[in-house]
Amino acid sequence: MPYAIVPGSFDPVTNGHLDIIERASRTFDHVTVAVVVNRAKSPMFTIQERVEMLREVCAHLSNVDVDSFDGLLVDYARSHGAGIIVRGLRAVSDFEYELQMALTNRRLLPDIETVFMMTGAEYSYLSSNIVREIALLGGSVEGLVPDSVKQHLRQKILLKQ
Ligand code: PNS
Repeated sequence: MPYAIVPGSFDPVTNGHLDIIERASRTFDHVTVAVVVNRAKSPMFTIQERVEMLREVCAHLSNVDVDSFDGLLVDYARSHGAGIIVRGLRAVSDFEYELQMALTNRRLLPDIETVFMMTGAEYSYLSSNIVREIALLGGSVEGLVPDSVKQHLRQKILLKQ
């Protein structure tokens, strides 16, 4: 049974992420979206908030669940019995980092396969960094993130002011 993990920071989840998650849910029997607890970065949203936003926007996908993990992705994959890691590729600039991660993960866990999905053309420029910056500077994120995420961004920025 192909069981895939879609890992990431998701700070916050964008429409580009959601496009990849929806396509993964159509491709694999079961998909876990796994949010990394990254101590090195200082995220805008807490891990609980990121998981909650993902659960809201994936609620229509019956074979998708959302979880978080701390530590190595391959350890999480092994302990959950997942054999596939799904990553979205936007531009050539993503390639070097993604190749490094895929090869590292395979070195750590030879059975794991990384599968890349090309982003939808309309999302090829989109990233969580861009969304955070636009929102923090008062711009519109309409069409870049799901509606529920727009509300979370609004609340977060009001709290900061
Ligand atoms: O959304 P991101 O920040 O590009 O996702 C990166 C992520 C979470 C996939 C990557 O940082 C990761 O797998 N972190 C867990 C730590 C790990 O396993 N590192 C070794 C592989 S490079």
